Amino acid sequence: YLKVDKNVDNLSTYPQIIDAADRLAKNEVVAFPTETVYGLGGNAKSDAAVRKIFAAKGRPSDNPLIIHISEFQQIEEFVADIPQTAKLLMEKFWPGPLTIIFQKKAGVLSELATAGLSTVAIRMPEHPVALALIQASGLPIAAPSANRSGRPSPTTAEHVWEDLNGKVSAIVDGGPTGIGVESTVLDCTGDIPQVLRPGGVTKEQLEAEIGFIKVDPALTNQDKAPKSPGMKYTHYAPDAPLFLVKGSREYIQQLISEKKREGLKVGVLTTEENREYYDSDIVRVCGQRSRLESVASGLYDALRSFNKSEVDIIFSETFVHEGVGVAIMNRLLKAAGHKVIPEN
Ligand code: TXA
Ligand code: MG
Repeated sequence: YLKVDKNVDNLSTYPQIIDAADRLAKNEVVAFPTETVYGLGGNAKSDAAVRKIFAAKGRPSDNPLIIHISEFQQIEEFVADIPQTAKLLMEKFWPGPLTIIFQKKAGVLSELATAGLSTVAIRMPEHPVALALIQASGLPIAAPSANRSGRPSPTTAEHVWEDLNGKVSAIVDGGPTGIGVESTVLDCTGDIPQVLRPGGVTKEQLEAEIGFIKVDPALTNQDKAPKSPGMKYTHYAPDAPLFLVKGSREYIQQLISEKKREGLKVGVLTTEENREYYDSDIVRVCGQRSRLESVASGLYDALRSFNKSEVDIIFSETFVHEGVGVAIMNRLLKAAGHKVIPEN
């Protein structure tokens, strides 16, 4: 662990940051905090570094990585064309939880990082430690979320340790991340920008800047193939089967009681508003229903925590499909493998 206080001045001259940046320059892989989740970073120009990222995560090689930058002009080196809409969005949302897909300039980045595609995903994170590290390294940094493939993304350095201990050169510990769900992935290579992954920046916020945008139909229809390679994989899953329940808390309690009678150890994923209500073996709270940002922030830690308590089955409440609720429901549906119990 390289512990860093994200509030100190001149972070890019801080010894732990210099140490981590040196490791990146040697094509080693380093986990670091961003405002969304922890990332597992490596030199995006180096095949050797990118191979280490895929190996540490156990990630399929057809799933491209997001390239992280700290300054706007960096993208001119590897982006072929910056559409006007993308310019507007970069000005408004960078640094921040928005990843933009551009046409790639060939021959600069590792082909492994972009999984051989003609496009490249780029974002400028809004976290002082991430920005200082990228700047100190002087490199574009390829970074997926720093979890083992398939597990919930890490929102603390301890989560990274649980998953990648012994597989990475260092973990820069900047404390818990804030937003808690990953960045929004927006494809700006077509006529109309299209959301490929809902995330920290909402569709409503994007449309307020540039007007109508599309959403990948695969996000709401399981039978369609997603346009973002990573969206087809199972993800975020706790060890025990997870069921999302559309009904009331009374109905959820009924399901819990049934399973308890069958002798199972039952977990429930709930919110502050309902925590006192349930009679279940394990009750985990991910935030306040009335503040969806707090649910996003606590979601992955709550999902991970069920593994430690070794439950047999988990029931979860659901959330409205608005604002950051869209990202929350997208992650929950994936974590549940789309197992949804309809209202009774
Ligand atoms: O918040 C985040 O975005 C975090 C932090 C660390 O920055 N990163 C992250 O990376 O979530 P990862 O690798 O877990 O997810 C990247 C997503 C995947 O679904 C991947 O398929 C998609 O972005 N992606 C990357 N390049 C793409 C491209 N050229 N076209 C379409 N999708 C792409
Ligand atoms: Mg990920």
